[in-house]
Amino acid sequence: MESPPGAVQEAVEVALDAGYRHVDCAYFYQNEAEIGAALQKKLREGRLKRDELYVVSKLWNSFHAPQDVKPASLESLTMLKLDYLDLYLMHSPMGFPNINGELMPQKDGLLLQSDVDYVDTWRAMEKLVDEGLVKSVGVSNFNVSQLERLLSVCRIKPAANQVELHPYLTQPELVEYCKAKGIVLIAYSPFGCPALPFPSGENSPVPLLENPTVNEIAQKHGKTSAQVLIRFHIQRGIATIPKSITPARIVENAEVYDFHLTRKEIQTLEGLDCNTRFIKWNLLGMETHQHFPFSDK
Ligand SMILES: NC(=O)c1ccc[n+]([C@@H]2O[C@H](COP(=O)([O-])OP(=O)(O)OC[C@H]3O[C@@H](n4cnc5c(N)ncnc54)[C@H](OP(=O)(O)O)[C@@H]3O)[C@@H](O)[C@H]2O)c1
Repeated sequence: MESPPGAVQEAVEVALDAGYRHVDCAYFYQNEAEIGAALQKKLREGRLKRDELYVVSKLWNSFHAPQDVKPASLESLTMLKLDYLDLYLMHSPMGFPNINGELMPQKDGLLLQSDVDYVDTWRAMEKLVDEGLVKSVGVSNFNVSQLERLLSVCRIKPAANQVELHPYLTQPELVEYCKAKGIVLIAYSPFGCPALPFPSGENSPVPLLENPTVNEIAQKHGKTSAQVLIRFHIQRGIATIPKSITPARIVENAEVYDFHLTRKEIQTLEGLDCNTRFIKWNLLGMETHQHFPFSDK
């Protein structure tokens, strides 16, 4: 969960009370201590057991060197106040050099790139499973070629690939590939990340939550557009991690199990695909990284 500091602990507590169990964290979001405080509070209250939670964290790009992987995982565990993670994801295939733990090491306005191979990072992540620090390992922002390469050499198969998915970016080839290989897809930015500046230009689509087709389907079911966008993934067999720090929306986003989209409605939503990616990874020269995932399949 990516949110301003201070708001996160309350949001996590509200979410756990509303029945959420999958908590999506990352070292990069710099709020794992707040999430840890919320988890600890709810576990101490005794209304929730550790094995009822599914806590995910992510290894940031600056810690791809094999010797940095275990210390990075331990730091997340310490902040989350947990003994183990249910899933640990490599945040992206692109490594940065570890310069005093800087998240975005730069020179002359460009991000520094390391030549660590994500396969070597993966081997160090597999050892975390052997040591019981994480129950499973997975990846994020990997394309089909990168998954294929990882699958050909790994000892432990990636359990999941977390990628941007919504009706404007349905990624049918990646979805089909992951399903065929038994890799769970986790859709991030299901609402098209409305907090970010919206891409403007003649051919830009309207913000996803304001799309008339989405709104019309929502009205038909007596639900909100946000609920339709979550339901879209559930019915495509894809997990999703909507983010909100607003208590009423947190509750609203969980009320998605009392309606069904028709096959035609799913197809209509898939038809909105305009290959629009809201989360920009191609910043500060990152698109020149040898493992940049979005110029390929
Ligand atoms: N692996 C990766 O590289 C990666 C990249 C990006 C995101 N993620 C993960 O995915 C999660 C979600 O992605 P995201 O935050 O980019 O985008 P998102 O879930 O598509 O959108 C979040 C935004 O939608 C608003 N919102 C939430 N529920 C709403 C509702 N019912 N009606 C109207 N607006 C609503 C939120 O506002 P309020 O919070 O103000 O309510 C927030 O501004 C993140 O928290 C993070 O855990 C992962």
